[in-house]
Amino acid sequence: MAKRKSKFICQSCGYESPKWMGKCPGCNQWNTLVEELEATKSTRGNWATGSKTSQKPEKITSIQSQEEPRIKTSMQELNRVLGGGIVPGSLVLIGGDPGIGKSTLLLQVSSQLARHDLDVLYISGEESARQTKLRADRLAIKTDRLYVLSETNLVDIANQIDQLKPGFVVIDSIQTIFKEEVTSAPGSVSQVRECTSELMRIAKQNHIPIFIVGHVTKEGSIAGPRLLEHMVDAVLYFEGERHHTFRILRGVKNRFGSTNEMGIFEMKEEGLTEVLNPSEIFLEERSQGVAGSTIVASMEGTRPVLVEIQSLISPTSFGNPRRMATGIDHNRVPLLMAVLEKRVGLMLQNQDAYVKVAGGVKLDEPAIDLAVAISIASSFRDKAPHAEDVLIGEVGLTGEIRRVSRIDQRVQEAAKLGFKRAIIPSRNIDGWKAPSTIDVVGVQSVQEAIKIALGD
Ligand SMILES: Nc1ncnc2c1ncn2[C@@H]1O[C@H](COP(=O)(O)OP(=O)(O)OP(=O)(O)O)[C@@H](O)[C@H]1O
Ligand SMILES: [Mg+2]
Repeated sequence: MAKRKSKFICQSCGYESPKWMGKCPGCNQWNTLVEELEATKSTRGNWATGSKTSQKPEKITSIQSQEEPRIKTSMQELNRVLGGGIVPGSLVLIGGDPGIGKSTLLLQVSSQLARHDLDVLYISGEESARQTKLRADRLAIKTDRLYVLSETNLVDIANQIDQLKPGFVVIDSIQTIFKEEVTSAPGSVSQVRECTSELMRIAKQNHIPIFIVGHVTKEGSIAGPRLLEHMVDAVLYFEGERHHTFRILRGVKNRFGSTNEMGIFEMKEEGLTEVLNPSEIFLEERSQGVAGSTIVASMEGTRPVLVEIQSLISPTSFGNPRRMATGIDHNRVPLLMAVLEKRVGLMLQNQDAYVKVAGGVKLDEPAIDLAVAISIASSFRDKAPHAEDVLIGEVGLTGEIRRVSRIDQRVQEAAKLGFKRAIIPSRNIDGWKAPSTIDVVGVQSVQEAIKIALGD
């Protein structure tokens, strides 16, 4: 028998080397190279090379295109993140921290689809069928078309899919599934790669959508190499803060839709419920008329969300002043403070600054700058902004307020929630019409905005 070759593969980035090394040259991490036997020929290849009849090149104009009907779940939030529903034959990866609720989400989706006349196969490699049943009881799931299988061997899984011919398949954690031909342990780079490409083939050949769960490493990327993200059709991250009940589903990659969308859920005893009116929820606990609190209309994909920004500015007691930011890019805070200091003349250099987005949301667009700047100025001067103002705008380094996108939608959302005044970039004033219940004020610089918002 021919000797099988082995190679060393980095478990973090997938770098391959014929000899062992302490430090991976690919990603510069230590002790990540693990010896794995080279895969035999039969385990190579992907769904595209599997067919016997070779394909001929076709003219793109002569290819029949038909918009495939998407499978709609009862969760509008999920449908939106997926770009309008589940595409038949797609392979979708859902990543997330331990215990964030990945299994709960997928079990709920499975049961909804099962109620819509689809046979659904939920394969769990981590939990026994009984454990899954316990969760299903808590979520009050009662449907005969949802099948549960506790299995980790990919060949058996493929056989079961062949026999049952389900319309939707969930694999609860790709890190527990293994293929016998690959000798390394489940969860290793080779296993994850081989199993994913096999699942891709199953999905494309049988035209079934498959959702796979992927664990997330300490650093926050999906365990196994990044190449797993390249292989699948869509990558969604399920995230949230441990001490908040809100969970956010975000698209990181999507071959069938935009990745700007975000779905918001709330984790309750009876499972995840959708949050269809996030602005109301985020503003629920807002303290009105307090210094340091401002409201911004931020776009999350195609949907505007109103969120509260809070700042606390207090004199530094010793040494270097502290700058802390939660929910926004922490480099933005010192930058905006420098602008306020230089252009408005606020003496912030000997002040500690704590800035946070209330409710555990993360905002990462420049249009929130103005709200952050005014919030800092408001806390520093100990002067509350008007409770019925909403602030929108990007702040430039010279203190100018720059134009932002989708201003009409943002202002509309603010008007819907009863805000009376929107302070926006003056360049955004023209070309659209604001609802009659809200005043729109255009500003050109931070100084001007502070004057209007803090009324001095
Ligand atoms: N009785 C309950 N009431 C409220 N929330 C609960 C209850 N039981 C579980 N949960 C929530 O469900 C979460 C676990 O969900 P789930 O098992 O779906 O997470 P997961 O992402 O699949 O985790 P893992 O990484 O372990 O597979 C818990 O962290 C908790 O927040
Ligand atoms: Mg789980």
